[in-house]
Amino acid sequence: DIQSVREAIHKKKLENDKPYYEVKVSFVPTMGYLHQGHLSLVSRAKQEGDISVVSIFVNPTQFNANEDLSTYPVDIENDTRLLESVQTDILFLPTPQLMYPNEYSTYVSVDSMDQVLEGKARPGHFRGVATVVSKLLNIVQPHSLLIGQKDAMQCICIRRLVEDLNFNTKVIVCDTVREDNGLAKSSRNSYLSQEEQKQASLINETMNQFKNNTQSFNNRTEFIDALTKEIEKNPLMKVEYISIASQSTGLEINDDIYPPPPLSNLSLAVFFQGEKRKTRLIDVILF
Ligand code: PAJ
Repeated sequence: DIQSVREAIHKKKLENDKPYYEVKVSFVPTMGYLHQGHLSLVSRAKQEGDISVVSIFVNPTQFNANEDLSTYPVDIENDTRLLESVQTDILFLPTPQLMYPNEYSTYVSVDSMDQVLEGKARPGHFRGVATVVSKLLNIVQPHSLLIGQKDAMQCICIRRLVEDLNFNTKVIVCDTVREDNGLAKSSRNSYLSQEEQKQASLINETMNQFKNNTQSFNNRTEFIDALTKEIEKNPLMKVEYISIASQSTGLEINDDIYPPPPLSNLSLAVFFQGEKRKTRLIDVILF
């Protein structure tokens, strides 16, 4: 339960050679089905702190009715093995009932996230993320929190949350880990057929080509339309949105600002309408 994870952290702090109040806890929240992207956050956690805590919890409140909560991939055995291989100190595996008991009714909402494209595309998603991350931060009380740049809008949401609610935690954003072909590693990649994977591997390559070729377009609309067309040349992929937004706020850059200024994110969401299921992938690179 909640108390036992707090006690486990307390015990590890006591065991540490440093004075209790100098022992640093670093924390990596995940939804499991772990891959090298997650493990890179754990390695960074080991560098940042003395005690590494990882949570695995497929958080129901961040999935809306049309999303893949019931089919989100799970493999706790393999996850546990991977976490042991990188010497994770504490694994926290709460159940939905523990996190959201029957009477549960408190939510945290970062209002500005309703304005960003990823927030509009997934109503309620960031409210669920902000709520569960707040709860996890209160339970673990880490010195540092490690999150991945791949989920760029989630990083913006969590930074805002931590600043606005005065959590005593340093947020550290880690680089996106990719397959050799450039595809950002994601638990959801496991949904893709071989042919879908082949097409998906073109997403990042195409984004980079366009990013390095802004002068071929007159304005933002032309750029986005052309990139959409290029990606949709692959018949299994459908672009949900392409965004050029400020890296710090997630808000779209004005249409009349072109080429995009440094420190803008080029991000997108792509759907695969597979035979069995729909898969949604996201990616982001920096201008
Ligand atoms: P999940 O998708 O499991 O991701 C957990 C963490 O790993 C996130 O911070 C995410 O950005 C990071 N991550 C995922 N793929 C990555 C990659 N290829 N390279 C580097 N980091 C990567 O994101 C969530 O879970 C949830 O929303 C959560 C924050 C746990 C709240 O429920």
